[in-house]
Formats: sequence, structure tokens, C-alpha cells
Amino acid sequence: MCGIIGIVGKEAVSDRLVDGLKRMEYRGYDSAGVCTVHDGQLVRRRAEGKLANLVQVLKSDDAPGNIGIAHTRWATHGAPTTSNAHPHATQEVALVHNGIIENFKQLRDELTARGRTFESETDTEVVAHLVSEQVEAGHSPADAVKTVLPRLRGAFALAIAFRQFPDFLIGARLGSPLVVGYGDGETYLGSDALALAPLTQQIAYLEEGDWVVIAREGAQIFDKDNNPVEREITTSGVSAASIEKGNYRHYMQKEIFEQPTVVAQTLSSYIRPLEQTVALPQMDFDLAGVKRITIVACGTSYYAGMVAKYWFETFARVPVDIDVASEFRYRDPVLEEGGLALFISQSGETADTLAALRHCKEHGQTIAVVVNVPTSSMAREADLLLPTHAGPEIGVASTKAFTCQLAVLAALAAHLALVKGKLSAEQEREIVRHLIEAPAALNAALAHDEDIAAMAHLIAPARDVLYLGRGPDYPLAMEGALKLKEISYIHAEGYASGEMKHGPIALIDEAVPVIVLAPSGPLFEKTVSNMQEVRARGGKVVLISDAEGIEEAGEGCLATIEMPSVHPLIAPLVYAVPVQLLAYHVACAKGTDVDQPRNLAKSVTVE
Ligand code: F6R
Repeated sequence: MCGIIGIVGKEAVSDRLVDGLKRMEYRGYDSAGVCTVHDGQLVRRRAEGKLANLVQVLKSDDAPGNIGIAHTRWATHGAPTTSNAHPHATQEVALVHNGIIENFKQLRDELTARGRTFESETDTEVVAHLVSEQVEAGHSPADAVKTVLPRLRGAFALAIAFRQFPDFLIGARLGSPLVVGYGDGETYLGSDALALAPLTQQIAYLEEGDWVVIAREGAQIFDKDNNPVEREITTSGVSAASIEKGNYRHYMQKEIFEQPTVVAQTLSSYIRPLEQTVALPQMDFDLAGVKRITIVACGTSYYAGMVAKYWFETFARVPVDIDVASEFRYRDPVLEEGGLALFISQSGETADTLAALRHCKEHGQTIAVVVNVPTSSMAREADLLLPTHAGPEIGVASTKAFTCQLAVLAALAAHLALVKGKLSAEQEREIVRHLIEAPAALNAALAHDEDIAAMAHLIAPARDVLYLGRGPDYPLAMEGALKLKEISYIHAEGYASGEMKHGPIALIDEAVPVIVLAPSGPLFEKTVSNMQEVRARGGKVVLISDAEGIEEAGEGCLATIEMPSVHPLIAPLVYAVPVQLLAYHVACAKGTDVDQPRNLAKSVTVE
């Protein structure tokens, strides 16, 4: 959700700034801009739309200079136009911002009353003016920033350049992530280590309220009380190569196909294959004493949580509350002292989930986090950190992070059941055996890629699509619908299959394809009955099932997609593949922008 980068370099920075933006474009692509400091001037270039437009601008009108900042935007305040594009600047100061300044209206009124004029509709521009006022009054840039930061409410990661000071930039963070990168005679700021991957692997993660002055020779970091502080410099595991598309047409496609590997990679940290037992990281609380679990997440991660609710309740007999993070705090949830709150997130920076996490912390909950970015804010605030090892996920629609989340959650549920005495050692071994089969089953599911591609044209013309599932396949139905709507722009809804008859069945006609997720097993017959209710009303059904299920109920369907026969425990991982591939191929058939669908961004760092 907006990406920012800053370089204090030994040589020209504009190309490298753009390159950094390229690796952060998944955070937003409504506009992009750079500003360098050169010959006592702020040299600003901006363009609305994708980064490619900025590249064109820079081709004809370069931004020279060895120091600069840059931004890729996901619009919050103000339309995605060039005048609203960052960097925002005054005569003296230019800055880029990720987050929202909640009190911008009041600050803007105040600044306007003092005679300042604005050229954008953004919340960000007020910060440029506030800092500029201080600099124009003769204060040093550091003093200016020190004075202004306490005036800002909301969330921000900022990188600020100063016309008269070509040797340093100032960064600051509160609520939005910001890292400092240390190079050879160069220093960098970035929204994440990914942005800086080709420049450096030496990264310090700023803490909430920190601000920093970066110069060629290094960085001086201050905490929220303006005390100089050291933040540990770690070697980031992110390499530039891990974020290449390889031979795939889209990142999303690559990430779908990486699933057998990354799920295996993730499982290898949570199971001991020889002993066939679950191995969780050390924890300094009594897991066996957990009486209730509160799961909070957003979007796809929320659906992983819904699947996990089945597992926690079925295996461990522990009651689970689950909420979408944006609603959680506002219903004033009852959180009993000593409860376990579990947060699931790919990015670890989603503002709603992070706010819910902090709410739970304040209310005495133990915080467990399943997260793909081990250096993220959520990871750092966890009591129990359960990393997924999906690697960087660049496609805006989440795929491999989801199946890796499921792998971790299944292991956690099994372990909880074991320590609670609800599962015998032999049952634990059986669960582990099924988990070990997951990568091969994912491979078998991926083998149906061409069949799915071949039937995508049946779905592509639809205006509405329904997805049905029962039990753990109900969240999968919702995940399928989410994937389809976000990348193909077809309206889609996921329903519990038994719920159809309570209303949605009124929507059924020949123009509304219904995708039914029904692995054979105890819930199969019931789901098939619901499917027949749809067919009896002229509905066109695509059945996703295994050979046995298709044999039994596939006749008369518009199409069938065959999955390998798997144990119900790993079915949600396996059935994620066909819904991902279906959305992917429908989007390709429609010619939409698969990796950067309209209006969306990855890592949603605003509430
Ligand atoms: C959907 C998708 C989003 C994210 C959601 C949460 O494909 O990617 O729904 O799942 O924004 O993001 P994280 O998992 O980073 O907290």
C-alpha cells in the first residue's frame, strides 16, 4: 500500500530509484514519482498510472543527482492524478509518504490560514508544508522533523529530501513499515527489504516512532523521544533473484506453481518426518492451558483462519472465535485473561490486523502470528511466531501464502490437540503422514492446469458466478470467489452449499455458473444434493471433485475438474489450486491485468 524508497548514493540514483519502485509496484500502481536533489534544486518527475509512465517521463526528462526519493502510490486521499502523485514538494522540501495523516484537514486549514497554498488533494502535502515552514524559518532539517512528527496523527512512513542539504535524507515511521539499508558508501530507505534487494542485504528495521537521518557514511536513528538508538542490522534473506518472474507469464502463475515447493519448505519447519511428529517453535506459555482461540485476519488470510477453525475445534476441541480484522475491535470482543489470539497475514503489515493484534495485547491475550514476512511488524510483536516459508509473494492476489498458512495451521491444530490429550501419538503420526503427502497432491492438482485453461472460456463471459462448498470447503468457496472477482472483475460469491436454498438460489439461471467444491467424503452427498437443487433450476454446474466424486455426480455438469483423492485434512490445500487456476485462466481469457488488478494493492497498510 504505497511503496517508498530513498537513496543517498555515490552515483546517479534515478534509475535505481525506479528499479526499487518496480519491486514495490505490488504495493500500489495508481501513480509514481521521483525527486532528486541536484545543483541546489529539487528535481521532481511524476506520472499518473503505472510505473511505465514515469519511465517514459524520465526518458525525455531525467532527474539527475546522487540523492533522491521515490514513491509508488495506492490512492487514498485524492484521485490517481499527476498532481496527487508523490513526491509532494515545496520550494525547500520534497517527501514521499506511505500511510494516512488522519488530522490532515485540521493541519491543512491551519496552514492555509498562514497563507500556504496546496497543489494536491492529498493528506500528505500538509507534511511537506509543515516541515518546509520550519526549514524556511531557519531550523535544521532534523529539528524541523522533530517538531513536526508529534503533530501528525495516523500512520506514516516518510522519506524527506531537502533542497539545501544534498548529503542526507530523513526518514520516519509510525504505523507503516520503513527499513534502513546499509551499502558500500551508500545508505538507503525502503518500505521493505524487497525494495532494496539488489542494493543491499544489510537491513535495520525501524521501530514504531523512530526517525532517522541517512547519509553516505551511515544512519543515525532516534526513537520517538528523540534519543539516539541502535537498531540491529540483520542480513535480509531476500535476494533479487527470488523476485524474478522466470519463464512464467505472470507472478501469480509462478506463485501458484511454486506451491508444492513452498508448502514442503514450510512443513519442513513444523514436522519431523522421521519421527512423524509435529515440531513447533519454543513457546513460553502453556499451550495445553488454552481454552479459547480468537482468530483475526483479512481477505485470503481470513479464509485460511476459517479452515483452521474447523481443525482447532475438530482435533483439539477448543472453541474458536473468528473475525475479519476490520470489524474486530469495533464489536468490543470479550477477551478473557489468558486467551490465545491468533493472527494470520502474508505481509505482517496489514493495518487492520495489526490494530487488532495490539488490541488483543492490551487485553492480556497471548499473541500467536502466522506470517510470511518474518521481519514484519506482526512478527516482531508476536509471543509465538509461526512463519510460513512461501518466499516473496508479488502477485497482488494471494496464492502460495494461503496454502502455506494452511500447512502451518494444520500442524498447530494437531499439536494443540496432542498437548490437550485429544489426540494420541498414533493419531498425530497419521496427521503428519497426511501433511507430508500435501506437496505431491498439490503437484497432482497442478497437472490439471491445461484442462482448467481449456474450460476458462465457459466462465469468462459470465457476469456473476457462485461458488459452493461445505465444511472446510466453504471457506475455499469464498476464497475461489474472491480470487475470481479480484483478478477477472466478475462478480462472484462463495456460499455454504446448504445456505443456497435460503435465498441465493433465486439468482440461479443459465447465465450464472455455479462452481461446486465437493471432495468425496462424509459431506459429499449433502453437497451434491445442493448441487442438484441448482441443476434442477437450470443452473450450470462446474464440479470440482476427485475421480470417485466425478464418477458419481459429474454427469450433466457444464464441466468437471478432477483433483487427486486426498485425505480430508489436506483437501483445503489441494482444492485451493483449481480455484486459483480457474481465476487465473479466466482473467487471462478476459485480458485483465493479473498481477496488478485495478484498485487493489498488496500489503494494505491503511485502515
Ligand atoms: C486476496 C488478498 C487479500 C489479502 C488481505 C490480507 O487475494 O491477497 O485479501 O489476503 O489483504 O493481507 P495479509 O495476508 O498480508 O494480511
